[in-house]
Amino acid sequence: MAKSFKPVSLLVTGGAGFIGANFIHHVLQGNPGCRVINLDLLTYAGNLENLKGIEADPRYEFVKGDICDAELIAAILYREEIDAVVHFAAESHVDRSITGPEVFVRTNVLGTQVLLEECRKRWVSGSVADFRFLQVSTDEVYGSLGSSGLFTESTPLAANSPYSASKAGADLLVRAYHETYGFPALNTRCSNNYGPYQFPEKLIPLMIHNIIAQKPLPVYGDGLNVRDWLHVKDHSRAVEAVLKNGLPGGVYNVGGNNEWRNIDIVNLVCDILDKKLGRALGSSRKLITFVKDRPGHDRRYAIDASKMRKELGWEPSYTFEKGIDETIDWYLDNQEWVREVTSGAYRDYYENMYGER
Ligand code: NAD
Ligand code: TYD
Repeated sequence: MAKSFKPVSLLVTGGAGFIGANFIHHVLQGNPGCRVINLDLLTYAGNLENLKGIEADPRYEFVKGDICDAELIAAILYREEIDAVVHFAAESHVDRSITGPEVFVRTNVLGTQVLLEECRKRWVSGSVADFRFLQVSTDEVYGSLGSSGLFTESTPLAANSPYSASKAGADLLVRAYHETYGFPALNTRCSNNYGPYQFPEKLIPLMIHNIIAQKPLPVYGDGLNVRDWLHVKDHSRAVEAVLKNGLPGGVYNVGGNNEWRNIDIVNLVCDILDKKLGRALGSSRKLITFVKDRPGHDRRYAIDASKMRKELGWEPSYTFEKGIDETIDWYLDNQEWVREVTSGAYRDYYENMYGER
């Protein structure tokens, strides 16, 4: 294997969101020689509470700002002598992209192009010896699978939602910057993540939150859509591996080899919480409410992560049993966090989706 790339001054975009925050915790723990600058606009999905405990670390700095702001990006790249960017910042929720696609195109497509261009300028200026740009993307760019088969890195892009289309657009810009300018960009495409600090509009934290509050559990359509679930800490390890040892220009699929039908996940979370909360087994399942399906709802996602395993020696470390149990405990122990992020704009969104219940 060629010599590893070792980032010294790392710009993380979207580091106040779910995966970005977990990644920053991970990097600061395992890389004593690395500084992290976190650029985040603090939209409804960004929360500085997710970074509690590391604000005092002299290797960490937070900048509030927009990835579409070219001047700000250029200033950070030079002032902080950035030599690597891990790009998480995005609008990330499919349901929101259906009701309001514009901001998805602005942030996910335009924002990625602005970042790429400012980074390319720094890279060609010769003021940095080596550089990496890692675009964190999703398996959703490949569209939907039938009951068999897996997404590989050569599966054609066939995005079906405004969210996944905007991520596919960004991925193609990343590819174009490598093909056209030789810019050292890499691309990961990961399956559904779960774990601490996930905003409770996504399936698993939404269900945990509603079960605790004894509110209805909205399952879309017949509940038989399949997702491949990966613990966010395993995703962080994968991103680090690609950043350090991935081949520039490469695409890397990341997945848990852990397929679940939505209804089975919801039943599982109900049963675990019944036990933990001392409720009669089966009582939370009674909260399940089948609701109108999401338009364009992809039926099945499943990742072939053999390239990650063979080229970078990466494999998931969590079993789902352990990961989901720890995750549920985290939400039970962090009710204050849940209360904080679900006040205000979240309440309006949720009531708009499902009505006051
Ligand atoms: P998230 O919605 O929890 O966080 C997104 C973060 O980006 C927030 O902190 C938000 O404030 C910030 N942000 C939004 N617009 C911005 C802008 N214009 N400028 C600066 N910051 C901005 O998302 P997440 O679930 O942590 O996902 C992170 C990335 O990983 C996304 O690119 C997503 O497409 C990708 N991804 C997510 C999953 C998943 O299961 N959640 C799976 C695969 C890939
Ligand atoms: P989600 O967490 O939004 O992730 P994605 O759509 O990016 O895969 O949803 C995961 C699955 O759960 C998806 O098939 C939609 C379904 N779902 C529900 O059935 N009910 C819900 O309230 C939510 C948020 C999702």
